[in-house]
Amino acid sequence: MSHRDSVTAPPEGFEATGSTAASPVAVMEDRRRRLFGIQCHPEVVHTPFGTDILKNFLFGACDCSPTWTVVSIIEDAVAAIREQVGDHKVICGLSGGVDSSTAALLVHRAVGENLTCIFVDHGLLRMNEAEQVIDAFTNHFHVPLVHVEAQERFLSKLEGVTDPEQKRKIIGEEFIRTFEEEARRLENTRFLVQGTLYSDVIESGTRDAARIKSHHNVGGLPVDMDLELVEPLRNIFKDEVRNVAAELGLPDNMVWRQPFPGPGLAIRIIGEVTGERLEILRRADFILQEEVRRAGLYRELWQSFCVLPAIRSVGVMGDSRTYAYPIIIRAVTSEDAMTADWARLPYELLETVSNRIINEVPGVNRVALDISSKPPSTIEWE
Ligand code: XMP
Repeated sequence: MSHRDSVTAPPEGFEATGSTAASPVAVMEDRRRRLFGIQCHPEVVHTPFGTDILKNFLFGACDCSPTWTVVSIIEDAVAAIREQVGDHKVICGLSGGVDSSTAALLVHRAVGENLTCIFVDHGLLRMNEAEQVIDAFTNHFHVPLVHVEAQERFLSKLEGVTDPEQKRKIIGEEFIRTFEEEARRLENTRFLVQGTLYSDVIESGTRDAARIKSHHNVGGLPVDMDLELVEPLRNIFKDEVRNVAAELGLPDNMVWRQPFPGPGLAIRIIGEVTGERLEILRRADFILQEEVRRAGLYRELWQSFCVLPAIRSVGVMGDSRTYAYPIIIRAVTSEDAMTADWARLPYELLETVSNRIINEVPGVNRVALDISSKPPSTIEWE
């Protein structure tokens, strides 16, 4: 139906119970036959009382009961994993994101020590992120974990590389190779855990899926390994994953982590990725994260991060002239990353972030703000 189409009169037996200027019959019902119709999008976040409409329909009109709870999701998943895996050994690649972490915790609950997690640290994560993952899994959950310190390996492969797609390709390939090497050391492994979500399942049914995946799924499935997949999140959406993660006790900062690209900081450093440039970006980004959280805005933003461009500009410090990098602040609101709007961050926050970055991060003498929306820009700079 185009947006100009509208119902002008209710059919036989129906009564119009809601209208707008454009739609005389925006809501209608036939109580006797228990039929209800609406002409709006209750599932969209911006629809006021949209969830209430859906709840009334399901629990009132259809007599459904809300048995799909976090606890039942966990119990069902654990039972299904046990059934699938039996006594066999399972491996799981951890990225630090909420999906792979939650998948790993569910499998651990189901099979205990038969699960080993592999965390490939490519050195392109944000400040303290690797430590958080290791601390949560090793000290808190006691999940067998192999921490692969591959920072040098990735840096040397990236030496001299400036093309964004080339960076992605190198990181993706190196990631899989490293993962495979470690996985081969673990004997008798039969299963591999994947954090596939229901939205991924829907997406792979579409025409562009292959292209989207190759671009976005760094750290994806090792291609030539003879392993069966365990996908405990296959039937649930991201918000349910977060609820499950919280119920399983994953720390808040991991449950609510903003999306972070597989190639990590490498695609936020324009030009060559070096240890020194990584350090500059990491320190600046840490300040931004800290201040955004302090301002209570972290969860409202789809993503907030810093970008390090490949230019330098003139500044002054004390009596001397500086020639150093700028840092660009990128913060967006979005529902699904397909479109995004630049976030209207408060001036006070921007001021604090700018002052702190320039004062605390050697090598930076200027801070700029990206005020572009997607489309036509993208969220990331590379
Ligand atoms: P763009 O920049 O295309 O980003 O607007 C859309 C979303 O995808 C993320 N992104 C990536 N994620 N590997 C990933 O795992 C990638 O190569 C990659 N590139 C972009 C980006 O952070 C945003 O959430």
